[in-house]
Amino acid sequence: MGRKGENVAFKKNLLCIGAGYVGGPTMAVIALKCPDYRVTVVDVNEERIDQWNSDRLPIFEPGLDDVVRAVRGKNLFFSTDVPAAIRAADIIFVSVNTPTKTFGEGAGMASDLQHWEKTAQQIIEHSDGSKIIVEKSTVPVRTAEAMERILRMNGKGLRFEIISNPEFLAEGTAVRNLLEPDRVLVGSLETESGRKAAREIADIYAHWVPADKIITTNLWSSELSKLVANAFLAQRISSINSISALCEKTDADIGDISFAVGSDSRIGPRFLAAGIGFGGSCFRKDILNLVYIARSYGLPDVADYWEMVVRINDFQQERFVQRIVHEMFQTLVGKKIALFGFAFKANTGDTRESPGIYVARKLIEERAVVSITDPWALDNARRDLEGIGGRVEFQTDPYRAAEGAQAIALITGWDAFRQLDYEKIFRVMVKPAFLFDGRNLLDHPRLFQIGFNVYPLGKPSRTHFA
Ligand code: NAD
Ligand code: UGA
Repeated sequence: MGRKGENVAFKKNLLCIGAGYVGGPTMAVIALKCPDYRVTVVDVNEERIDQWNSDRLPIFEPGLDDVVRAVRGKNLFFSTDVPAAIRAADIIFVSVNTPTKTFGEGAGMASDLQHWEKTAQQIIEHSDGSKIIVEKSTVPVRTAEAMERILRMNGKGLRFEIISNPEFLAEGTAVRNLLEPDRVLVGSLETESGRKAAREIADIYAHWVPADKIITTNLWSSELSKLVANAFLAQRISSINSISALCEKTDADIGDISFAVGSDSRIGPRFLAAGIGFGGSCFRKDILNLVYIARSYGLPDVADYWEMVVRINDFQQERFVQRIVHEMFQTLVGKKIALFGFAFKANTGDTRESPGIYVARKLIEERAVVSITDPWALDNARRDLEGIGGRVEFQTDPYRAAEGAQAIALITGWDAFRQLDYEKIFRVMVKPAFLFDGRNLLDHPRLFQIGFNVYPLGKPSRTHFA
């Protein structure tokens, strides 16, 4: 039996180390669906924990406020007291960040597991009982082996069972993805104690996830499936983006192609929207990690194959900027360009690996004046571009961002950008006015009619030039 809270005896104490984009929403939904479990989320970042305990959560995620409000203080708690939380926990989810290594061997490719290893040391130091440790972070295949070795050397006679339970939520739809997952993956060692621990984790999800969606595998399949799922999703985006470049040369329309190709039930329609390239904290790092792993196992052809997914993504961002420079008469010096959106996708304030960062940097290098507007990502945009020099403005009002601009570059597919009054915007812009739609979001014939020179991605441009 877990500790008592508000006169309720909890069946188990769950802990999550890492209160980020994954740890916060995942544990909030577990708390909501499992009132019989006490859920604590800890982080070393005090400001983040204060925000989780406030009315303004540290991340913007549709529906999350309601979930947190329903359970916080009842069976969901946010804290910075890592030692006490470890002592009290029966099951520890580890959801710390696993970014690309920036130093030493594997720099720029491999996963940086320093936060992981630190967590393992903390668990050893503060545990006074045996526990199940759950890999929630995305990690290289066979990380659990290293984790197990570290934890086994605890010197206290404690047993730690390692389970892999990767997270598949996408930002902007995290709550929906957690409430109705396509699947939950639980990997364990194929030993009796491993299977028992896997059942305990599956039992948590069984509170709301149908049994046929809870997949159990061995540890290594589970770890590797997560990397492969992200690689496949990103591969679809790079595939369609590569074809968007060919469309621009041939007057084919990438929208028609996505529809025609995606109508084949074997291929399916999702993740075939051409755009400025994928961003987000994970696709790039997870593919590079996969590439690194394949190379380390002596599989250079496999590594090269997946590396091209990242290469095409860079190509797509590069050619977006090259097109702006080329179409605006080969010079951007002193020209104001409004960036509509900076988040890596709509419905999130997250800007990690956003194509917006690359575009802004390049435009500033060209000495353009960059005016950025985004409904949720301006604070992050400011941080991303800190010390960049040049002339950058941040505007909450898109009409202000467009004032005196000669071009709009649409970076993020926010629905709000569809609703704007583009006649009003056109009136306050310098002519000839350009619009580069990096998400094929807007009504291009209408914009052309208003007077814009319109450059979609992978579709014929519409210009007023002879
Ligand atoms: P994040 O950076 O938002 O959160 C990680 C948190 O861990 C940070 O707040 C950090 O302060 C904390 N932390 C690091 N070391 C700690 C320690 N020793 N003790 C306590 N707290 C510590 O990262 P995220 O986006 O939540 O991603 C976490 C993991 O989940 C990554 O491995 C990522 O690949 C994976 N993932 C992310 C997403 C996503 O949509 N962001 C989706 C699926 C999987
Ligand atoms: C992605 C995966 O979808 C999640 O399953 C996974 O858990 C997560 O990574 C992770 O491991 O971090 P996320 O990065 O939050 O989720 O968002 P996605 O919806 O996958 O979008 C990623 C990028 O691809 C965005 O920049 C988006 O604009 C772009 N994208 C997506 C396209 O350009 N075209 C598409 O058709 C779809």
